[in-house]
Amino acid sequence: MSRSVSNLTTIVKEIADEMAQRPDRGEVANYIPELANVHNKRFGLVVVDGAGNVASAGDSEMPFSIQSISKVFTLTLALGLVGDKLWQRVGREPSGSPFNSIVQLEYERGKPRNPFINAGAIAVTDVILSGHQPREALGEILRFMRFVADDPSIAIDESVAASEQRTGFRNIALANYMKSFGVLDNPVNHVLGVYFHHCAIAMSCRQLAMAGRYLAWSGVNPSTGHSAVSAERARRINAVMLTCGHYDGSGEFAFRVGLPGKSGVGGGVLAVAPGKASIAVWSPGLDVHGNSHLGRVALEALSKRMGWSIFGV
Ligand code: DON
Repeated sequence: MSRSVSNLTTIVKEIADEMAQRPDRGEVANYIPELANVHNKRFGLVVVDGAGNVASAGDSEMPFSIQSISKVFTLTLALGLVGDKLWQRVGREPSGSPFNSIVQLEYERGKPRNPFINAGAIAVTDVILSGHQPREALGEILRFMRFVADDPSIAIDESVAASEQRTGFRNIALANYMKSFGVLDNPVNHVLGVYFHHCAIAMSCRQLAMAGRYLAWSGVNPSTGHSAVSAERARRINAVMLTCGHYDGSGEFAFRVGLPGKSGVGGGVLAVAPGKASIAVWSPGLDVHGNSHLGRVALEALSKRMGWSIFGV
């Protein structure tokens, strides 16, 4: 093992040990009842480098609900389907609002600010659904996840999907509101069915870090050589992750971590150090913005100790 790899392994383990000691763990999401069952002592961290070395610590193999992290992959798929026309349906500016906010939609006549707030992700799901049955669209999303992660075992946690379907009144409101502006082409219940299910995909930190490799290496998985998107598209998705990936906490995440990242209310974060690493962290306790609290703390420590911030060392 090279010196830098063993250094990375040591740092990852150190950070996991430090996180295990922290009393400030945030609050586990409870608005999707099934997510409330997860213990907030859980913590996993996985870093994959360009040579395929994996440094991992904690609950790195335990599947968790990726929730909004799935929006990175649905954005990638929708761009592949309709190209830059997607940006006529959804913006790419930070919202400065909570992930489930409805107020901005009225001002902006039903066009969501960006693809990562719930409204934007629902509009992106509508694009993927067009011309397909919900089951086929979901199959496409899962196939893509399995392809980029190079792992056929990735699956949907049906109990989480059902739990959100029963209680997703805010998302139902957002979707109906967009439909009233003609922003959604497909029936609201079909769009939401696919949305709730892709949010309910379960993955471990290891699987997620593997899936993020195409973003870290200009569209190509450096281990297999398989291309998922063009270099320009990977760069642009990273830019949207940096500016919008943590909702109204995106500025703070950029300030502290300095890497493109996407959070989910399951407590996961996918972060990308371009040309250096794909990183997944999981700690289910959330901060006030619905982003993993210790996930952010751990990523801040990692990026600082490795000198990975895109803004300089
Ligand atoms: O739509 C929702 O509310 C969830 N399925 C996803 C929200 C989410 O992950 C926000 N991220 N921090």
